[in-house]
Order: sequence, then C-alpha cells, then structure tokens
Amino acid sequence: MRTVRLPDGTEVPALGQGTWHMGERGGSAKAEAGAIRLGIDLGMTLIDTAEMYGNGGAEEMLADAIHGVRDSLFIVSKVYPQNASRSGVPAACERSLKRLRTDRIDLYLLHWRGSHPLAETVEAFEALRAKGKIRYWGVSNFDARDMQGLVQLPDGAHCAANQVLYHAGSRGIEFDLLPWCTQHRIPIMAYSPVGQGGRLLQSRALEAVAKRHKATPAQIAIAWSMRDPNVITIPKASDPKHVRENAAAGAITLTAEDLAVIDATHPPPRGRQSLDIS
Ligand SMILES: NC(=O)c1ccc[n+]([C@@H]2O[C@H](COP(=O)([O-])OP(=O)(O)OC[C@H]3O[C@@H](n4cnc5c(N)ncnc54)[C@H](OP(=O)(O)O)[C@@H]3O)[C@@H](O)[C@H]2O)c1
Repeated sequence: MRTVRLPDGTEVPALGQGTWHMGERGGSAKAEAGAIRLGIDLGMTLIDTAEMYGNGGAEEMLADAIHGVRDSLFIVSKVYPQNASRSGVPAACERSLKRLRTDRIDLYLLHWRGSHPLAETVEAFEALRAKGKIRYWGVSNFDARDMQGLVQLPDGAHCAANQVLYHAGSRGIEFDLLPWCTQHRIPIMAYSPVGQGGRLLQSRALEAVAKRHKATPAQIAIAWSMRDPNVITIPKASDPKHVRENAAAGAITLTAEDLAVIDATHPPPRGRQSLDIS
C-alpha cells in the first residue's frame, strides 16, 4: 500500500475507506461492518468517519468492524462545527471514543468552519492531543484562505490534514489549495473520489482509460484521485464487490497518456474556484 506522509513524517495509507451513509437507521450495520472489515483485510486500514454520520451510528458500526484489529488502523473522525468550542470539543470527542469503543482517535477533524472561534477549537484539539485522546488534528472543507488563516493561529501550524471534495470532475483545489498544502506538508484527504457513485462513473474518458488497464471507471477515478503524493483518498463502499475493486485500484499507476485523456474531458482549473462541497 502506498503511503502519504503527515507533517511529522509518520506514514499513513494513501487509500482508505469512507463511512458516510453507513450505520443509519433502517440500514444494515452488520453488512456494512463486514464490508469495512473486508477492506481492512485488503489493506485499506485508514478509515474515515464522523459524529455526524448516521447520527453516531457510523462510529458504532465501525466499532464492530475494527474489533480486535484496532491497533493496526488509522481512525479519522470529525467534530461538528457547533460542538467545536473549548468545552464542546472534548465532550464530543469522549462521545465518539465511547461509540468507537477505543481510547484514542488517530486524526480528529473539524468537519467544516462554524461560528466558534477557530483559535478555541485549535486550543481544544491541542489539549486532547496532550491527553492522548487524539494523535493528530486537522480540518475539513477549508479553502486556501482558511488554511492561511489557520496556520497564523497559535499551534495552528500543527494541522495534520485538510479533507476536501476532490475527484476528476471537481479539480478546483489543484489551482491553489493543493499546492499550498503540499508546500506546507499538510496532506489533502480526497472525499467523494468516485463522485458518490454518480455521473462521473459514466465519463467516456474514465471508461477509455479503464479499458486500457482492464479496470473499471471507479478504479480509474480512485487511482486518479491518489496520483498526487500528498493526497489520501477515502472511497466509501458497502458492496463487497466495490470494496474489492477499490482496494485493487491502489495498485493502478496511470500513465502520462492516461492523464492526458482524462485532462481533455476533465480539464484542470485555470483560475481560482470556490471550494466545492457536493
Ligand atoms: N468531510 C466531508 O465533508 C465529507 C463529505 C463527504 C464525504 N466524506 C467522506 O468521504 C467518504 C467518501 O465520499 P462519499 O461517500 O461522499 O462518496 P464516494 O466514495 O465517491 O462514493 C460512494 C458511492 O459510490 C459507490 N461506489 C464505491 N465504490 C464503487 C465502485 N468500485 N464501483 C461503483 N460504485 C462504487 C458506493 O456504493 P456502495 O456503497 O453501494 O458500494 C457509494 O454509493 C465518505 O464516506 C466520508 O467518509 C467527507
């Protein structure tokens, strides 16, 4: 499994698993935990969740999936912006730890910017880190300007990742955010890398490249999303067939010719774009 370096040099898998829409009421948490466990067995040992997903249900589902193998994993969770105050962050973290049935979260992210002062959130993250409740903290849905502001704050430069939407159909971050994060050695975590299983998978360009690699368009979308050495990608799959496909995508290396085919249909940005979130 290829790895990406966190700012302190620690290596984490470049290909992980998402959990949005898992652990929801009326869903099949047992089957979902089975899918995550299959992904773990296939090497996708970085797993992304959030207190928001399934209203805590995704974290509970994940607790079952990681039982007995937790120490070999890198678990990412997120705090709601409305909980991101000095006292709200540790309380939310405790609730997540309880649902996950673990004693630490490897990477704890602010899900998106809210009304609590960012300096307070950072202070709370640092206090959790000092207590060993979290190993790293980071942010999500921050654009380049947000990141520039963040690193000016006391301890703001300790941010270990920024999780944003990134797939071949939405490349705005390549103009400013991705270069800025790379320069500051802060990894990007690409969410929705297969475009939430929607229209992106019908892309003629992805289909053409998939044919060359005897792969599926989803596998090409994943390989594309993790082609940059500073990007971690976290596709979500409940279907075991998708899980197997996604794990195998980590071994696909796209050629310059493949990338040119994709660029022709899905061009890189020519200017600054506002951060995409859906
Ligand atoms: N920070 C944020 O604000 C934020 C926002 C969105 C997402 N995220 C995180 O990023 C993760 C991934 O993003 P996402 O869930 O939005 O979208 P995604 O991973 O791009 O797409 C998930 C959808 O694609 C389908 N799929 C997965 N692999 C496939 C394959 N090989 N072939 C065909 N279809 C496939 C899945 O189907 P099945 O489930 O049926 O297999 C599911 O419907 C989330 O789960 C979450 O952890 C974070």
